[in-house]
Amino acid sequence: MRKYRKREHIENYLRTTYIGNPMFEDIFLYHNSLPEIDFNEIDTSVMFLDKKVDFPLLINAITGGNEFSQDINNSLARIAKNFNIPMAVGSQTIALEDEDTAESFQCARKTIGDGILLANINGHSTVEDAKRVVEMIDANGVQIHLNPAQELSMEEGDRSFKNILSNIENIVNEVDVPVIVKEVGFGISKDVAKKLYSVGVKYIDISGFGGTNFLEIENLRTPENDLSELYSWGIPTAMSLIEISALEYDDLVLIGSGGIKNALDLVKSIVLGASIAAISGELLSYLIHGGYEYAYKYVEDIIYKTKMIMLLTGAKNIEELKNVNYRVTGKLRELVDYDK
Ligand code: FNR
Repeated sequence: MRKYRKREHIENYLRTTYIGNPMFEDIFLYHNSLPEIDFNEIDTSVMFLDKKVDFPLLINAITGGNEFSQDINNSLARIAKNFNIPMAVGSQTIALEDEDTAESFQCARKTIGDGILLANINGHSTVEDAKRVVEMIDANGVQIHLNPAQELSMEEGDRSFKNILSNIENIVNEVDVPVIVKEVGFGISKDVAKKLYSVGVKYIDISGFGGTNFLEIENLRTPENDLSELYSWGIPTAMSLIEISALEYDDLVLIGSGGIKNALDLVKSIVLGASIAAISGELLSYLIHGGYEYAYKYVEDIIYKTKMIMLLTGAKNIEELKNVNYRVTGKLRELVDYDK
């Protein structure tokens, strides 16, 4: 059942038609006509989980659990290795139940070598589960996904979301790799961020509204139960980033994700406070529609255009990019609440 659902997620993702908005268009960056930078000197490297990566992009969690997923994980890991960027596998719950599926996740470790690879589980997982998924792929960190909107839109999904925070706290305390708490496309509010931070979470992946839409993905499986009026639910990625950054938790690392499709989105997410951006859906589309070369070219293009934009903002490295000036316009300006 789960194996089949994994494939359906990918197929249904590609069938979705609702277009969300992460609201990066309401972020204005100043053009710098006197950058005093040589394009070849631009340094896009960042430290992530104590390792140097060459570009601030994480290939975010997508899949695992069957042969089709294995091919995808292999290709994504090849891309990650080539560009020396980190990658996360999809939820490993399936491999905790059926060991035969573990290889579809472990292949990513074989391919990525000593690159950064993240494990993935849900908020109900035990400390033992977390340790097992980390060990399964020799992970450098473990993502815990929070997905109440997705679960509620699945007939067989969870209906109880109690005790997840204390569960996360236990995992943070007992597992010896960093814990990254993420959404799956509905965003993390500043109040949720405060709660996560209070139990020791130091990495939050926004996975905000505006890209992959799991309400629609799941609803395509059961069209008789129409959920379309909820497709606009969620916190736009740009809003979530601004509000959580405004909390000024110096040791909280933010991952800017949800609807990142191009270099300008990626740059804006960093300007708004993310240490690294992440993409799932758009990269998956390139991979499925055009194969490995097409997906590779997509990432290469993002890297080149990010350097262009960095030069045009006057930032020669990511630290400087984090500090460039920006203005918030339009609806996003009305929405954002800067109060702590
Ligand atoms: C996902 N995502 C996801 N997240 C997670 O934590 N575990 C998972 O197993 C999956 N599975 C999954 C399948 C597919 C087909 C997609 C497209 C996405 C969510 C993903 O990691 C990310 O948080 C959201 O997709 C938002 O980013 P994008 O897709 O808008 O870039």
